[in-house]
Amino acid sequence: MNRKVYMKAEDFHAQNAELGTALPFADDLSLLNAPLTVGGHTIHNRLACQAMEGCDGTPGGAPDALTVRRYDRFANGGAGLIWFEATAVMEEGRANPRQLYIHESNVDDFKRQVARIKETALRANGFEPVVIMQATHSGRYSKPQGVPAPLIAYNNPIFEKDQPIAPERIVSDEYLDRVGEALIHGAELAERAGFDGVDIKACHRYLNSELLSAYNRPGRYGGSLENRTRLLRESIAGAKAACGKDFIVSSRLNVYDGFPHPYGFGVKPDGTTEFDPTEPVWLLRELRNLGVELLNITMGNPYFNPHVNRPFVRGGYTAEEHPLEGVARMLHGIAALKKEVPDIKLICSALSYLGVAAPNVVAGFIRDGGFDIGGFGRTIFAYPDFAKEILIKGAMDPRKICLCCSMCTEIMRAGGTPGCVVRDRELYLPMHKQLVGGK
Ligand SMILES: Cc1cc2nc3c(=O)[nH]c(=O)nc-3n(C[C@H](O)[C@H](O)[C@H](O)COP(=O)(O)O)c2cc1C
Repeated sequence: MNRKVYMKAEDFHAQNAELGTALPFADDLSLLNAPLTVGGHTIHNRLACQAMEGCDGTPGGAPDALTVRRYDRFANGGAGLIWFEATAVMEEGRANPRQLYIHESNVDDFKRQVARIKETALRANGFEPVVIMQATHSGRYSKPQGVPAPLIAYNNPIFEKDQPIAPERIVSDEYLDRVGEALIHGAELAERAGFDGVDIKACHRYLNSELLSAYNRPGRYGGSLENRTRLLRESIAGAKAACGKDFIVSSRLNVYDGFPHPYGFGVKPDGTTEFDPTEPVWLLRELRNLGVELLNITMGNPYFNPHVNRPFVRGGYTAEEHPLEGVARMLHGIAALKKEVPDIKLICSALSYLGVAAPNVVAGFIRDGGFDIGGFGRTIFAYPDFAKEILIKGAMDPRKICLCCSMCTEIMRAGGTPGCVVRDRELYLPMHKQLVGGK
Protein backbone atom coordinates (compact mmCIF):
# COMPACT_ATOMS: atom_id res chain seq x y z
CA MET A 1 0.00 0.00 0.00
CA ASN A 2 1.14 3.51 -0.84
CA ARG A 3 3.02 5.12 2.09
CA LYS A 4 3.20 8.71 0.81
CA VAL A 5 2.30 11.62 3.07
CA TYR A 6 -1.23 12.85 2.27
CA MET A 7 -1.32 15.63 -0.30
CA LYS A 8 -5.08 15.26 -0.65
CA ALA A 9 -7.72 14.57 2.00
CA GLU A 10 -9.28 11.86 -0.22
CA ASP A 11 -6.10 9.78 -0.04
CA PHE A 12 -6.24 9.97 3.75
CA HIS A 13 -9.92 8.94 3.80
CA ALA A 14 -9.24 5.95 1.53
CA GLN A 15 -6.37 4.61 3.67
CA ASN A 16 -8.11 5.38 6.95
CA ALA A 17 -11.00 3.21 5.75
CA GLU A 18 -8.85 0.48 4.23
CA LEU A 19 -6.61 0.11 7.30
CA GLY A 20 -9.47 0.47 9.76
CA THR A 21 -7.55 3.12 11.68
CA ALA A 22 -10.77 5.01 12.50
CA LEU A 23 -9.16 8.41 12.87
CA PRO A 24 -11.76 11.16 13.25
CA PHE A 25 -11.82 13.94 10.66
CA ALA A 26 -13.64 17.24 11.30
CA ASP A 27 -14.40 19.56 8.39
CA ASP A 28 -14.96 22.40 10.81
CA LEU A 29 -11.59 23.70 11.99
CA SER A 30 -12.97 26.48 14.19
CA LEU A 31 -12.17 24.51 17.35
CA LEU A 32 -8.48 24.99 16.57
CA ASN A 33 -8.93 28.68 17.24
CA ALA A 34 -10.33 28.19 20.74
CA PRO A 35 -8.02 29.47 23.47
CA LEU A 36 -7.05 27.20 26.35
CA THR A 37 -6.14 28.33 29.86
CA VAL A 38 -3.35 26.63 31.78
CA GLY A 39 -2.58 28.10 35.17
CA GLY A 40 -2.44 31.83 34.69
CA HIS A 41 -1.62 31.52 30.98
CA THR A 42 -3.73 31.60 27.87
CA ILE A 43 -2.69 29.43 24.97
CA HIS A 44 -4.23 31.30 22.04
CA ASN A 45 -4.97 28.35 19.80
CA ARG A 46 -4.77 24.55 19.73
CA LEU A 47 -1.66 24.22 17.58
CA ALA A 48 1.78 23.66 19.09
CA CYS A 49 5.35 23.54 17.85
CA GLN A 50 6.71 20.34 19.36
CA ALA A 51 10.18 20.19 20.87
CA MET A 52 12.54 19.94 17.88
CA GLU A 53 16.21 19.99 18.68
CA GLY A 54 18.55 21.79 16.31
CA CYS A 55 21.87 20.73 17.92
CA ASP A 56 23.03 24.24 17.09
CA GLY A 57 23.79 25.90 20.43
CA THR A 58 27.19 27.34 21.37
CA PRO A 59 29.73 25.00 22.97
CA GLY A 60 28.71 26.60 26.30
CA GLY A 61 25.05 25.67 25.70
CA ALA A 62 23.51 29.04 24.78
CA PRO A 63 21.32 29.61 21.71
CA ASP A 64 23.48 30.42 18.65
CA ALA A 65 22.72 31.95 15.23
CA LEU A 66 20.88 28.90 13.81
CA THR A 67 18.91 28.49 17.05
CA VAL A 68 17.75 32.10 16.82
CA ARG A 69 16.83 31.62 13.16
CA ARG A 70 14.74 28.54 13.94
CA TYR A 71 12.83 30.21 16.76
CA ASP A 72 12.23 33.31 14.66
CA ARG A 73 10.56 31.03 12.14
CA PHE A 74 8.53 29.19 14.80
CA ALA A 75 7.50 32.47 16.48
CA ASN A 76 6.34 33.92 13.17
CA GLY A 77 4.37 30.77 12.46
CA GLY A 78 1.38 31.49 14.70
CA ALA A 79 1.28 28.46 17.04
CA GLY A 80 -0.23 29.18 20.46
CA LEU A 81 2.35 27.01 22.20
CA ILE A 82 6.06 26.57 21.55
CA TRP A 83 7.63 23.61 23.31
CA PHE A 84 11.23 24.75 23.45
CA GLU A 85 13.62 21.89 22.60
CA ALA A 86 15.64 19.56 24.84
CA THR A 87 17.83 21.71 27.07
CA ALA A 88 20.33 19.94 29.30
CA VAL A 89 20.60 20.75 32.99
CA MET A 90 23.87 18.87 33.57
CA GLU A 91 26.89 19.03 31.28
CA GLU A 92 27.40 15.25 31.17
CA GLY A 93 23.74 14.81 30.23
CA ARG A 94 24.03 16.70 26.92
CA ALA A 95 23.10 14.60 23.89
CA ASN A 96 25.65 16.36 21.68
CA PRO A 97 28.29 19.06 22.12
CA ARG A 98 25.92 21.68 20.71
CA GLN A 99 22.82 20.72 22.67
CA LEU A 100 21.39 23.67 24.57
CA TYR A 101 22.47 23.62 28.21
CA ILE A 102 21.09 26.13 30.69
CA HIS A 103 23.17 27.13 33.70
CA GLU A 104 23.84 30.17 35.91
CA SER A 105 26.37 31.71 33.52
CA ASN A 106 24.18 31.71 30.40
CA VAL A 107 20.68 32.29 31.76
CA ASP A 108 20.72 35.80 30.24
CA ASP A 109 21.29 34.33 26.78
CA PHE A 110 18.14 32.26 27.24
CA LYS A 111 16.36 35.36 28.53
CA ARG A 112 17.17 37.17 25.28
CA GLN A 113 16.02 34.15 23.27
CA VAL A 114 12.66 33.91 25.04
CA ALA A 115 12.07 37.68 24.81
CA ARG A 116 12.83 37.52 21.10
CA ILE A 117 10.34 34.68 20.55
CA LYS A 118 7.63 36.64 22.36
CA GLU A 119 8.34 39.94 20.58
CA THR A 120 8.58 38.30 17.16
CA ALA A 121 5.28 36.48 17.65
CA LEU A 122 3.51 39.52 19.01
CA ARG A 123 4.59 41.57 16.01
CA ALA A 124 3.66 38.86 13.52
CA ASN A 125 0.47 37.47 15.03
CA GLY A 126 -0.77 39.89 17.67
CA PHE A 127 -0.26 37.53 20.61
CA GLU A 128 2.54 35.93 22.58
CA PRO A 129 2.80 32.14 22.50
CA VAL A 130 3.23 30.17 25.71
CA VAL A 131 6.81 28.89 25.72
CA ILE A 132 7.81 25.85 27.77
CA MET A 133 11.42 24.72 28.16
CA GLN A 134 12.20 21.01 28.00
CA ALA A 135 14.68 20.21 30.80
CA THR A 136 16.61 17.05 30.09
CA HIS A 137 19.32 14.61 31.04
CA SER A 138 20.08 12.38 28.05
CA GLY A 139 21.08 9.35 30.11
CA ARG A 140 21.84 6.44 27.78
CA TYR A 141 22.17 8.84 24.85
CA SER A 142 24.56 11.31 26.50
CA LYS A 143 27.32 12.43 24.14
CA PRO A 144 28.65 15.72 25.56
CA GLN A 145 31.98 15.50 23.72
CA GLY A 146 30.54 14.01 20.52
CA VAL A 147 31.30 10.39 21.48
CA PRO A 148 28.86 8.14 23.36
CA ALA A 149 29.20 8.51 27.15
CA PRO A 150 26.08 6.66 28.33
CA LEU A 151 24.71 7.03 31.84
CA ILE A 152 22.07 4.34 32.18
CA ALA A 153 19.34 3.39 34.65
CA TYR A 154 19.88 -0.33 33.99
CA ASN A 155 21.33 -2.66 31.38
CA ASN A 156 18.91 -3.33 28.57
CA PRO A 157 19.76 -6.33 26.36
CA ILE A 158 17.33 -5.17 23.67
CA PHE A 159 19.56 -2.15 22.99
CA GLU A 160 22.93 -3.46 24.13
CA LYS A 161 22.62 -6.99 22.68
CA ASP A 162 25.87 -8.88 23.35
CA GLN A 163 27.79 -5.75 24.32
CA PRO A 164 26.46 -4.77 27.74
CA ILE A 165 27.33 -1.29 28.93
CA ALA A 166 29.89 -1.39 31.78
CA PRO A 167 28.40 -1.48 35.30
CA GLU A 168 30.13 1.79 36.28
CA ARG A 169 27.92 3.56 33.71
CA ILE A 170 24.79 2.57 35.69
CA VAL A 171 23.91 5.67 37.68
CA SER A 172 23.65 5.37 41.47
CA ASP A 173 20.65 6.46 43.53
CA GLU A 174 22.77 9.34 44.86
CA TYR A 175 23.49 10.45 41.30
CA LEU A 176 19.76 10.37 40.54
CA ASP A 177 19.15 12.52 43.63
CA ARG A 178 21.53 15.06 42.09
CA VAL A 179 19.75 14.83 38.71
CA GLY A 180 16.51 15.68 40.53
CA GLU A 181 18.16 18.72 42.11
CA ALA A 182 19.53 19.80 38.72
CA LEU A 183 16.09 19.45 37.09
CA ILE A 184 14.54 21.59 39.82
CA HIS A 185 17.30 24.16 39.46
CA GLY A 186 16.76 24.02 35.69
CA ALA A 187 13.09 24.91 36.32
CA GLU A 188 14.16 27.91 38.40
CA LEU A 189 16.57 29.02 35.69
CA ALA A 190 13.85 28.62 33.06
CA GLU A 191 11.54 30.82 35.10
CA ARG A 192 14.29 33.43 35.47
CA ALA A 193 14.84 33.33 31.70
CA GLY A 194 11.18 34.20 31.10
CA PHE A 195 9.87 30.82 29.98
CA ASP A 196 6.22 30.27 30.93
CA GLY A 197 6.90 26.77 32.11
CA VAL A 198 9.20 23.79 32.28
CA ASP A 199 8.92 20.23 31.02
CA ILE A 200 10.60 17.66 33.24
CA LYS A 201 11.36 15.48 30.23
CA ALA A 202 10.42 11.82 30.60
CA CYS A 203 10.26 10.62 27.02
CA HIS A 204 12.07 8.85 24.19
CA ARG A 205 14.15 6.75 26.60
CA TYR A 206 16.37 9.51 27.88
CA LEU A 207 17.20 9.12 31.58
CA ASN A 208 13.86 9.88 33.24
CA SER A 209 12.01 7.89 30.58
CA GLU A 210 14.31 4.88 30.95
CA LEU A 211 13.65 4.85 34.70
CA LEU A 212 9.93 4.30 34.07
CA SER A 213 10.76 0.73 33.02
CA ALA A 214 13.51 0.05 35.59
CA TYR A 215 11.55 -2.94 36.89
CA ASN A 216 14.69 -4.87 37.80
CA ARG A 217 16.72 -1.99 39.23
CA PRO A 218 17.31 -2.27 42.98
CA GLY A 219 17.06 0.72 45.33
CA ARG A 220 14.86 3.79 45.58
CA TYR A 221 14.50 4.36 41.82
CA GLY A 222 13.66 0.85 40.63
CA GLY A 223 11.18 -1.99 41.06
CA SER A 224 7.79 -0.67 42.16
CA LEU A 225 5.85 1.82 40.06
CA GLU A 226 6.30 4.39 42.84
CA ASN A 227 10.06 3.95 42.70
CA ARG A 228 10.29 3.98 38.90
CA THR A 229 8.37 7.25 38.74
CA ARG A 230 10.14 8.80 41.76
CA LEU A 231 12.58 11.02 39.87
CA LEU A 232 9.80 12.42 37.70
CA ARG A 233 7.32 12.95 40.53
CA GLU A 234 9.83 14.43 42.95
CA SER A 235 11.32 16.74 40.31
CA ILE A 236 7.86 17.97 39.41
CA ALA A 237 6.90 18.50 43.05
CA GLY A 238 10.26 20.26 43.65
CA ALA A 239 9.87 22.50 40.60
CA LYS A 240 6.35 23.43 41.67
CA ALA A 241 7.59 24.35 45.13
CA ALA A 242 10.57 26.31 43.81
CA CYS A 243 8.78 28.34 41.12
CA GLY A 244 5.95 30.89 41.09
CA LYS A 245 2.33 29.75 41.16
CA ASP A 246 1.68 30.71 37.52
CA PHE A 247 4.76 28.91 36.22
CA ILE A 248 3.63 25.81 34.31
CA VAL A 249 5.29 22.58 35.43
CA SER A 250 4.69 19.85 32.90
CA SER A 251 6.29 16.80 31.33
CA ARG A 252 6.74 15.33 27.89
CA LEU A 253 5.94 11.79 28.78
CA ASN A 254 6.41 8.44 27.04
CA VAL A 255 3.32 6.41 27.82
CA TYR A 256 4.39 3.48 25.63
CA ASP A 257 7.90 2.38 24.67
CA GLY A 258 7.04 -0.35 22.19
CA PHE A 259 9.28 -3.16 23.44
CA PRO A 260 8.41 -5.99 25.79
CA HIS A 261 8.31 -6.20 29.56
CA PRO A 262 10.51 -5.90 31.62
CA TYR A 263 12.19 -3.35 29.33
CA GLY A 264 9.30 -1.22 28.13
CA PHE A 265 6.91 1.12 29.94
CA GLY A 266 3.21 1.03 29.08
CA VAL A 267 3.32 -2.49 27.58
CA LYS A 268 1.39 -5.54 28.70
CA PRO A 269 3.43 -7.73 31.10
CA ASP A 270 2.83 -10.78 28.86
CA GLY A 271 5.88 -10.52 26.60
CA THR A 272 3.99 -8.82 23.75
CA THR A 273 4.41 -5.20 22.71
CA GLU A 274 0.75 -4.34 23.17
CA PHE A 275 -0.11 -0.98 24.76
CA ASP A 276 -1.24 -1.25 28.39
CA PRO A 277 -2.47 2.06 29.80
CA THR A 278 -2.70 0.84 33.43
CA GLU A 279 0.58 2.30 34.71
CA PRO A 280 0.46 5.47 32.54
CA VAL A 281 -3.05 6.19 33.88
CA TRP A 282 -1.80 5.81 37.46
CA LEU A 283 1.05 8.20 36.65
CA LEU A 284 -1.22 10.78 35.03
CA ARG A 285 -3.43 10.75 38.13
CA GLU A 286 -0.41 11.16 40.42
CA LEU A 287 0.86 14.08 38.35
CA ARG A 288 -2.58 15.68 38.34
CA ASN A 289 -2.65 15.32 42.15
CA LEU A 290 0.66 17.18 42.24
CA GLY A 291 -1.05 20.06 40.43
CA VAL A 292 0.06 19.29 36.86
CA GLU A 293 -2.52 20.67 34.42
CA LEU A 294 -0.87 19.98 31.07
CA LEU A 295 1.08 17.01 29.68
CA ASN A 296 2.71 16.44 26.31
CA ILE A 297 2.25 12.79 25.39
CA THR A 298 4.45 10.71 23.10
CA MET A 299 5.56 7.10 22.46
CA GLY A 300 8.49 5.08 21.20
CA ASN A 301 12.23 5.48 20.99
CA PRO A 302 13.64 7.58 18.12
CA TYR A 303 16.81 5.46 17.96
CA PHE A 304 15.30 2.00 18.29
CA ASN A 305 11.76 2.04 16.90
CA PRO A 306 11.35 5.40 15.13
CA HIS A 307 8.28 4.11 13.26
CA VAL A 308 6.47 4.20 16.64
CA ASN A 309 7.83 7.64 17.55
CA ARG A 310 7.58 9.43 14.21
CA PRO A 311 5.92 7.37 11.47
CA PHE A 312 7.96 7.89 8.32
CA VAL A 313 7.90 7.34 4.56
CA ARG A 314 11.61 6.81 4.13
CA GLY A 315 13.94 5.81 6.98
CA GLY A 316 16.57 3.29 7.99
CA TYR A 317 14.16 0.36 7.48
CA THR A 318 10.67 -0.43 6.27
CA ALA A 319 8.35 -0.94 9.20
CA GLU A 320 5.92 -3.83 9.06
CA GLU A 321 3.04 -1.54 9.90
CA HIS A 322 1.78 1.26 7.67
CA PRO A 323 2.74 4.75 8.94
CA LEU A 324 -0.96 5.57 9.38
CA GLU A 325 -1.20 2.68 11.84
CA GLY A 326 1.65 4.25 13.81
CA VAL A 327 -0.15 7.59 13.89
CA ALA A 328 -3.36 5.82 14.96
CA ARG A 329 -1.60 3.99 17.82
CA MET A 330 -0.30 7.32 19.09
CA LEU A 331 -3.50 9.34 18.76
CA HIS A 332 -5.98 6.68 19.92
CA GLY A 333 -3.59 5.80 22.78
CA ILE A 334 -3.56 9.41 23.94
CA ALA A 335 -7.34 9.60 23.67
CA ALA A 336 -7.63 6.45 25.82
CA LEU A 337 -5.64 8.20 28.57
CA LYS A 338 -7.71 11.37 28.29
CA LYS A 339 -10.83 9.29 28.81
CA GLU A 340 -9.45 8.00 32.11
CA VAL A 341 -8.07 11.35 33.31
CA PRO A 342 -10.27 13.94 31.58
CA ASP A 343 -9.29 16.86 33.79
CA ILE A 344 -5.69 16.95 32.55
CA LYS A 345 -4.95 18.80 29.30
CA LEU A 346 -3.06 16.74 26.75
CA ILE A 347 -0.93 17.61 23.73
CA CYS A 348 -0.55 14.93 21.08
CA SER A 349 2.48 13.96 18.99
CA ALA A 350 3.25 12.34 15.61
CA LEU A 351 1.04 14.38 13.31
CA SER A 352 3.43 15.08 10.46
CA TYR A 353 2.70 11.94 8.44
CA LEU A 354 -0.93 13.08 8.12
CA GLY A 355 0.09 15.88 5.75
CA VAL A 356 -2.86 18.06 4.71
CA ALA A 357 -5.25 15.92 6.78
CA ALA A 358 -3.52 16.80 10.07
CA PRO A 359 -5.60 19.87 11.03
CA ASN A 360 -8.88 18.01 10.43
CA VAL A 361 -7.74 14.98 12.42
CA VAL A 362 -6.64 17.23 15.31
CA ALA A 363 -9.98 19.07 15.20
CA GLY A 364 -11.77 15.71 15.16
CA PHE A 365 -9.97 14.50 18.28
CA ILE A 366 -10.51 17.82 20.09
CA ARG A 367 -14.21 17.72 19.17
CA ASP A 368 -14.49 14.16 20.51
CA GLY A 369 -12.58 14.92 23.73
CA GLY A 370 -9.50 12.87 22.72
CA PHE A 371 -6.89 15.54 23.49
CA ASP A 372 -6.61 19.31 23.68
CA ILE A 373 -3.72 20.49 21.50
CA GLY A 374 -2.13 19.20 18.29
CA GLY A 375 1.67 19.10 18.52
CA PHE A 376 3.60 19.23 15.23
CA GLY A 377 7.21 18.01 15.10
CA ARG A 378 9.01 17.61 11.75
CA THR A 379 6.37 19.82 10.14
CA ILE A 380 7.78 22.89 11.89
CA PHE A 381 11.16 22.44 10.19
CA ALA A 382 9.52 22.09 6.79
CA TYR A 383 6.59 24.45 7.17
CA PRO A 384 7.06 26.82 10.10
CA ASP A 385 4.00 28.86 9.04
CA PHE A 386 1.70 25.84 9.34
CA ALA A 387 -0.37 27.26 12.20
CA LYS A 388 -1.00 30.62 10.58
CA GLU A 389 -2.09 28.98 7.33
CA ILE A 390 -4.37 26.47 9.06
CA LEU A 391 -6.00 29.15 11.21
CA ILE A 392 -6.28 31.88 8.57
CA LYS A 393 -6.48 30.06 5.23
CA GLY A 394 -8.24 27.01 6.66
CA ALA A 395 -5.85 24.46 5.13
CA MET A 396 -2.25 23.35 4.78
CA ASP A 397 -0.52 23.86 1.46
CA PRO A 398 0.46 20.45 0.00
CA ARG A 399 3.55 22.05 -1.56
CA LYS A 400 4.89 22.95 1.88
CA ILE A 401 4.18 19.87 4.00
CA CYS A 402 6.82 17.65 5.58
CA LEU A 403 7.48 14.57 3.45
CA CYS A 404 8.64 12.45 6.42
CA CYS A 405 11.83 11.58 4.53
CA SER A 406 14.04 11.38 7.66
CA MET A 407 16.72 13.60 6.16
CA CYS A 408 16.55 15.98 9.16
CA THR A 409 17.31 13.05 11.44
CA GLU A 410 20.11 11.85 9.16
CA ILE A 411 21.87 15.20 9.61
CA MET A 412 21.41 14.96 13.38
CA ARG A 413 22.71 11.39 13.59
CA ALA A 414 25.74 12.40 11.52
CA GLY A 415 26.59 15.03 14.14
CA GLY A 416 25.22 18.06 12.27
CA THR A 417 22.52 20.65 12.87
CA PRO A 418 19.17 19.32 11.60
CA GLY A 419 16.68 21.23 9.50
CA CYS A 420 14.47 20.53 6.48
CA VAL A 421 16.56 19.40 3.52
CA VAL A 422 13.58 19.63 1.16
CA ARG A 423 11.77 22.83 2.14
CA ASP A 424 14.65 24.82 3.62
CA ARG A 425 17.11 23.50 1.12
CA GLU A 426 19.47 26.42 0.65
CA LEU A 427 20.70 25.98 4.17
CA TYR A 428 20.20 22.29 4.85
CA LEU A 429 20.75 20.50 1.52
CA PRO A 430 24.49 21.34 1.46
CA MET A 431 24.77 20.14 5.06
CA HIS A 432 23.03 16.89 4.21
CA LYS A 433 25.28 16.41 1.17
CA GLN A 434 28.39 17.05 3.19
CA LEU A 435 27.48 14.84 6.18
CA VAL A 436 25.34 12.10 4.66
CA GLY A 437 26.69 12.20 1.12
CA GLY A 438 23.35 13.05 -0.49
CA LYS A 439 22.23 9.41 -0.17
C1 LIG B 1 15.37 16.37 14.25
C2 LIG B 1 14.46 16.07 15.39
C3 LIG B 1 14.68 16.66 16.62
C4 LIG B 1 13.82 16.37 17.71
N1 LIG B 1 14.04 16.98 18.92
C5 LIG B 1 13.25 16.66 19.98
C6 LIG B 1 13.46 17.27 21.25
O1 LIG B 1 14.33 18.12 21.46
N2 LIG B 1 12.66 16.88 22.27
C7 LIG B 1 11.64 15.98 22.12
O2 LIG B 1 10.93 15.67 23.07
N3 LIG B 1 11.40 15.42 20.90
C8 LIG B 1 12.16 15.76 19.85
N4 LIG B 1 11.89 15.21 18.62
C9 LIG B 1 10.65 14.42 18.42
C10 LIG B 1 9.53 15.33 17.90
O3 LIG B 1 9.20 16.33 18.84
C11 LIG B 1 8.24 14.54 17.57
O4 LIG B 1 7.80 13.86 18.71
C12 LIG B 1 8.41 13.54 16.43
O5 LIG B 1 9.11 14.09 15.35
C13 LIG B 1 7.02 13.04 15.94
O6 LIG B 1 6.20 14.12 15.55
P1 LIG B 1 6.00 14.48 13.98
O7 LIG B 1 5.37 13.29 13.35
O8 LIG B 1 5.09 15.68 13.97
O9 LIG B 1 7.35 14.77 13.44
C14 LIG B 1 12.74 15.47 17.54
C15 LIG B 1 12.54 14.88 16.29
C16 LIG B 1 13.38 15.15 15.23
C17 LIG B 1 13.10 14.50 13.90
